[in-house]
Amino acid sequence: MMLSKQQEAKIQSLIKEMTLEEKIGQMNLASVSIVGGFDVPFEELIEMVGDGRISNEEFGKIMQSAEQDFHEDEIREGKIGALMLQDPIKANKLQKIAVEESRLGIPLLIGLDVIHGFKTVYPIAIAEAGAFEPELFEKTARMAAKESRSKGVTWHFAPMIDVARDARWGRVSEGPGEDPFLVTEFAKAKVRGLQNDHTSTEHYVAACLKHYVAYGACEAGRDYNTTSMSRSLLHNTYLPPFEAAVKEGAASVMASFNDLNGIPCSVNQFTLRTMLKETFDLDGFVVSDANGIRECVNHGIASDDAEAGQQAVNAGMDMDMGTGIFSKHLKDCVKAEKVSESAMDEAVERILRVKMWLGLFDNPYVSEETMHRYDVLPKENIELALEAAKKSIVLLKNENEILPLKKETKISLVGTLADNPEEVIGAWAMSWNIEDCVSVKQGLEHAGANFTYYPCGGPEGGLNEAEIQDAIREGDVIVAVVGELVSMTGEAASKADISLPGEQRKLLERLLASGKPVVAVLMNGRPLALEWEQGHVPAILEGWHLGVQMGNAIASVLFGETNPSGRLASTFPKAAGQCPIYYNHPNTGRPGSKSKFTSRYLDAGFEPLYPFGYGLSYTTFSYRDLSVKEEPDRLIATVNVTNTGTVEGTETVQLYMRDVTASIVRPIKELKGFQKVTLKPGETAKVVMELAKSQMGFYDDERNYRLEDGIFQIFMGANARKGMMQEVEVTF
Ligand code: GLC
Repeated sequence: MMLSKQQEAKIQSLIKEMTLEEKIGQMNLASVSIVGGFDVPFEELIEMVGDGRISNEEFGKIMQSAEQDFHEDEIREGKIGALMLQDPIKANKLQKIAVEESRLGIPLLIGLDVIHGFKTVYPIAIAEAGAFEPELFEKTARMAAKESRSKGVTWHFAPMIDVARDARWGRVSEGPGEDPFLVTEFAKAKVRGLQNDHTSTEHYVAACLKHYVAYGACEAGRDYNTTSMSRSLLHNTYLPPFEAAVKEGAASVMASFNDLNGIPCSVNQFTLRTMLKETFDLDGFVVSDANGIRECVNHGIASDDAEAGQQAVNAGMDMDMGTGIFSKHLKDCVKAEKVSESAMDEAVERILRVKMWLGLFDNPYVSEETMHRYDVLPKENIELALEAAKKSIVLLKNENEILPLKKETKISLVGTLADNPEEVIGAWAMSWNIEDCVSVKQGLEHAGANFTYYPCGGPEGGLNEAEIQDAIREGDVIVAVVGELVSMTGEAASKADISLPGEQRKLLERLLASGKPVVAVLMNGRPLALEWEQGHVPAILEGWHLGVQMGNAIASVLFGETNPSGRLASTFPKAAGQCPIYYNHPNTGRPGSKSKFTSRYLDAGFEPLYPFGYGLSYTTFSYRDLSVKEEPDRLIATVNVTNTGTVEGTETVQLYMRDVTASIVRPIKELKGFQKVTLKPGETAKVVMELAKSQMGFYDDERNYRLEDGIFQIFMGANARKGMMQEVEVTF
């Protein structure tokens, strides 16, 4: 974060002027609190939604009458440094209080969960990562930065970069998958997209890397659950995306809820201070997750709020999200010398540096013109959302080339998810308008398809037999949109059963019994256990939750205007019982095979349903002539890829390596590069990828980075299970 000398000097002079209360105020992130306006307490209202006594729609209507506390007085007294809000008019009012009425006039940071788009919502991360395209990741993030900044939001609680290997965890949907290399490329690109367009202060926001760290390793895929692992696994798998994104300039980091090897991440000195601030050299600040500091009492590491607050600051936490613990207890902690004021000064300096870097001291307000800039989505934003959606779709199966369909084909479109525009959005999107959302049904209408829609059933509730009969009778091809509701994904949405929810499999059985071709289009936020579907449904498209342009993207792929090129950023298991399952695993002493005494399941074998990096195309590709040359500081891997099919297509060539023998067992494969090539039928491309020797090592428990001479296997191929391999003897 480059600041001028004058800016640095202003920060130092402000800190000198600040009272202890004002310093603590900067470390306090508040959310707009609901203080009433209904005949039951707000907590009761939340329970009523949770247990279904009122629907989401009813809850939304009631909330319109809610009385909200925007903390005006505390802002005026300098007791709040940041706020969660997405209302530009309110943001201007509160900024005005902070800047013109508080003693020192320090502007507020306005933060929000903008995870995959603000108003123009694009694919959820697990989908977008499957495009294997950092340029795309960067462009969509920049679009979100511009849209949200125009509404006064200057800080995104994004990107979420938790490596996740367990599909039972609902938050798999929010992150870029299981592979540290792909997650790292995604993380860096998102930071660039959010932070790097300084042509105007209206074009960039502060990123917030989350959830730091190893939250995706929650035991049994159960959200908020404990995490424990070797230090070497932490250094080799979970820390690298954060290290790289901090070095890319990320302005902030959010500590995660989980305890890690016995110490909750909100009060973990090793991860926060030793690794993040000292080793990775974070320039910005660390914020807790919502209520994370208070939850250290539940964890059993702090006896009360005050102790939790004291532990957090001493571990390197700079800002408290939502508990008010810093506001209430830090002054006494300083007086009792349990927290040094210098720790506060460090926290405040980090926070003020981000505010200064954002230009908030000079431009704290949003102009009338700016705040309405995106009231109507610009064409280029819609086109970018469509591009991202198309590139995220994965063709999982296409028996007898049922797909693509002809426009004139008489289609029965089946499944309630097909006609629900809200369901295209995915978890963690909160600033969109339903009229901007294109459902699958609307997408087929826009494409001029010849179809009739039959709800028949969906993720909840039963099946409508009469509609199923009609669908079977009328259509020549049946397109069944099945999957998960958005509410079944994201935070607090872990599932023990990750097969198609409700009676959707039964629906597919009924449709298949007709003998007519059935195409399943999936709308989901996690890898699902689709072994039965893979065995029975002739064509399967993974559509994820693709954002506002989902319907048009799906139609474009269904009718062949787009040849699907998406790949899986997460392994798909055959069954939940295989989770966690991921490609870059150690070999074990008895690697899984057909024989009994090997690492496998009696009822599910050892292989996943679909491997990491997997995805089909309407064409086919062949790989030939792999060669690997060693140079003093790198390997150069070359392979010829040919389009052996009849239509143009894009292949994502993946480069993996394996350190066959090392002082710590190493994964059987590690992704080290990828390149997309678009080829016409019959065309061949020579794909060359370099692997720096410095990237071929690994960390031990003491974080010594080891480069050990020996045999390495280099793979280039279509996914983690399919490709060519060459062994090379490497010396470092
Ligand atoms: C949530 C999430 C975090 C989010 C925060 C603020 O609990 O864990 O990802 O940014 O609260 O909404």
